Amino acid sequence: MITETAKAKLNLALHVRARRPDGYHELETLFAFVADGDIVTVAPAEADSFTLTGPFAAVLSGEGDNLVTRAARGFRDAFGGGAHAIALYKCLPVASGIGGGSADAAATLRALGRLHDVALDAMFPIADALGSDVPACLYGVTAIGRGRGEQLEPVPGLPGTPVLLVNPGVGVSTAEVFRRWDGVDRGPLPADPREGRNDLEPPARAIAPVIDAVLDLLAAQPGAGLVRMSGSGATCFALFEDDASRDAAAESLGRQGWWLLPTRLT
Ligand code: C5P
Repeated sequence: MITETAKAKLNLALHVRARRPDGYHELETLFAFVADGDIVTVAPAEADSFTLTGPFAAVLSGEGDNLVTRAARGFRDAFGGGAHAIALYKCLPVASGIGGGSADAAATLRALGRLHDVALDAMFPIADALGSDVPACLYGVTAIGRGRGEQLEPVPGLPGTPVLLVNPGVGVSTAEVFRRWDGVDRGPLPADPREGRNDLEPPARAIAPVIDAVLDLLAAQPGAGLVRMSGSGATCFALFEDDASRDAAAESLGRQGWWLLPTRLT
């Protein structure tokens, strides 16, 4: 049996540059990953099966088709490998800007690739067809993403940096957030992501005003550095100077009843 962590994805900065004729948006984003996420296990089996457990399993259950089963189908169409028992332990909130389903699909591909000796690069086209963030999640390393997010340039990261993820429990639709982007190109990604932005914050806040409160509270925490929303929201994050200040912030924000993940960048 192969186990892969579907590490949560963060956009340390996300600049939307243009609306494309195909309905997607041209981006410049800095992808980073944290140590924790959903867990995917894959084992060879007589017949295909998919099992879903974990605190956020109920949100996904009932959907016969999901990114994990689609990834497995894509793998089999390209590389064979027979039937598999796949299990997903879902502990990341769904539709929350931290990759969730994309990371699950990518972890499924990585697990199948390890099982059948298929290299990551060979699985890129499957990842690309599954969603804009799936290629970034497939490699799972700090990288600048351009195009829809699939044109990746690995860059040095800040491994070990303490980070706190906060989700106020409101799911927001990525397509809806992009649709509400005001169409103004505010410029390229700077070398230092702290000087960057997430251009999807204003449209996401219009849909889920609670994001303002999350960002304000995170920014007020002692030791918090970069504070931003990830992806199309509503999950926000803060990078911290040290574990103690991150843990103190988690304790303080815990009173809100929000979903929290104290973790670190990889
Ligand atoms: O690629 P993915 O299926 O994950 O994207 C979900 C939706 O988000 C797309 O249908 C599109 O509306 C929007 N999107 C976008 N530009 C991107 C990525 C996603 O407009 N670069």
